[in-house]
Amino acid sequence: MTAPADRVLNFLGETAEWLSGEELARLLGISRAAVAKHIAKLRRDGHIIKSSTKLGYRLLAKNVPVDFDLVVPHLWTKTLGRTGWRSLDVTESTNNEAIIWALAGGPVGAVVPAERQTGGKGRRGHGWFSPPRSLMFSCILPAGPRHRSSPEAVTGEALAALVEAFCQAGVPEPTVKSPNDLLLNGRKIAGVLVESGSRAGVPEWLVLGIGVNVNVLQEEFPDELSGRATSILAVTGRPMDRNAFLGIILSEIERKLRA
Ligand code: BTN
Repeated sequence: MTAPADRVLNFLGETAEWLSGEELARLLGISRAAVAKHIAKLRRDGHIIKSSTKLGYRLLAKNVPVDFDLVVPHLWTKTLGRTGWRSLDVTESTNNEAIIWALAGGPVGAVVPAERQTGGKGRRGHGWFSPPRSLMFSCILPAGPRHRSSPEAVTGEALAALVEAFCQAGVPEPTVKSPNDLLLNGRKIAGVLVESGSRAGVPEWLVLGIGVNVNVLQEEFPDELSGRATSILAVTGRPMDRNAFLGIILSEIERKLRA
C-alpha cells in the first residue's frame, strides 16, 4: 500500500498548479493537519514544496540525492572526487567524517557529501544550518604548505563565479565578504571551513568543508538566521541541480589549486 506521504507527493506531482491543504485532505480522506505533517516529512526527505497560506502547496522539484554517478558527468578533475567518495545521508559534520577518514589513511582528493548534518560546523565555533536540499561536503586536500594559493580564497572565488553563472539575468551578482563568505542580496549563501592537524610539528591532514544554501526555501531558515541567510532557490525562484553544481565546483577548485 502506498504510504500517505507518497500519495501527497503523487497528487502534487500530477499538477504544476497549487493544491490547497483542504483539497489534498479531501483527495486523501485525511485531516489538513495530517496533510501538513506529510508535507513536513516530504520536505525532510528533500522534496522542494512551496507553501502559501492562500494557495496551499506546490511541488517545485522532487528530491535528487547527491550521487557520484550524477556528479561524474560534470567532473573534470584528476584527483578531487576521483580517489575516494562517500555519500552520506545524515552525519554530524562532513568535516568530521573527512578528518576521521584522513587520519585513517583516506586518500587526498576524497570527497564526503551529506544530505543533512546534525552538527554542521561554521567558522569561529559557530554552527552551520544544514537542512536537506542544501549542499554540504568536505574534501581531503594535501596537508602542509603545498598549496600556492589558500584553499579558502580559491574556493570563495570559485563559488562566486559559479553562483553567478547559475543565476539568471536580473539576479544580483554574488559578493565575497572577506575571507570567503558568499553573499547574495546581502545575505549569506555559502561558507568555507578549512581544518588541519599536525603530529610532532609535521602537517598531517587538511580538510576543506563547503556549505552552500542551494534548494532551501526562505521560510525554512530559522528566525535568527532568516535576515542574514538566503539560498539560491530563494533568490532565483529556480531549483538548482546540486550534482552538476558539485561536479563543477570540485573541478574549479582543483583547477585553481593547481594554477
Ligand atoms: C562558515 O562559517 O562560513 C563556514 C561554514 C562551513 C560549512 C560546511 S558544510 C560542510 C562542512 N561540514 C561542516 O561541518 N562544515 C562545513
